Amino acid sequence: MIKEIERKLVTEAEIQHIVSRIAGEIDRAYEGKHLLLLAILKGSVVFMGDLMKKIRIPVEIDFMKVSSYGGGTTSSGNINIHLDIQRKDIQDCDILIVEDIIDSGRTLAHLVEYLKLKGAKSVKTCTLLDKPSRRVVDYNADFVGKIIPDEFVVGYGLDYDEKFRALPYIGVLKPEVYQK
Ligand code: PRP
Repeated sequence: MIKEIERKLVTEAEIQHIVSRIAGEIDRAYEGKHLLLLAILKGSVVFMGDLMKKIRIPVEIDFMKVSSYGGGTTSSGNINIHLDIQRKDIQDCDILIVEDIIDSGRTLAHLVEYLKLKGAKSVKTCTLLDKPSRRVVDYNADFVGKIIPDEFVVGYGLDYDEKFRALPYIGVLKPEVYQK
């Protein structure tokens, strides 16, 4: 384990177990549908790569890059879209948004509405990690890997200041790393 990490919160083995379980749930839920996995950059890339390999039904993939902003503690704020989905057949797609983590809930709540307005056939969401204690917007994902406490986690796609995304596990960052 690297020196900036206090402890592992989710090990490599547990992550693979979770990903296999979710892939099975997706296989059952989307059999016979036109499944489009839509990963939200950058945090979800590692999860997406593992998940798509474990799904047995045919999948297509796409990517968006967004950031949520504003809102204080009561309002839902909004999202900036930095990279949009470019598909002419969106009305035929059953979109499953793939996220690494839900925190306030703003990003997914807005994205779901955005993609529905764009005309997607259906829009559901999948997250590896969920921090319900941080929720500002009343939103829950359809497929959830693991509920975690409100700790500063990095690894497996998640960053602090763009670092630690490549760690193969989810680790809790030592406070001195982000408090200096
Ligand atoms: C993270 C995460 C989600 C969002 C969740 O992305 O990947 O997209 O925040 O937070 P919310 O529930 O409060 O909206 P981030 O903006 O850190 O970008 P990154 O994925 O590029 O690291």
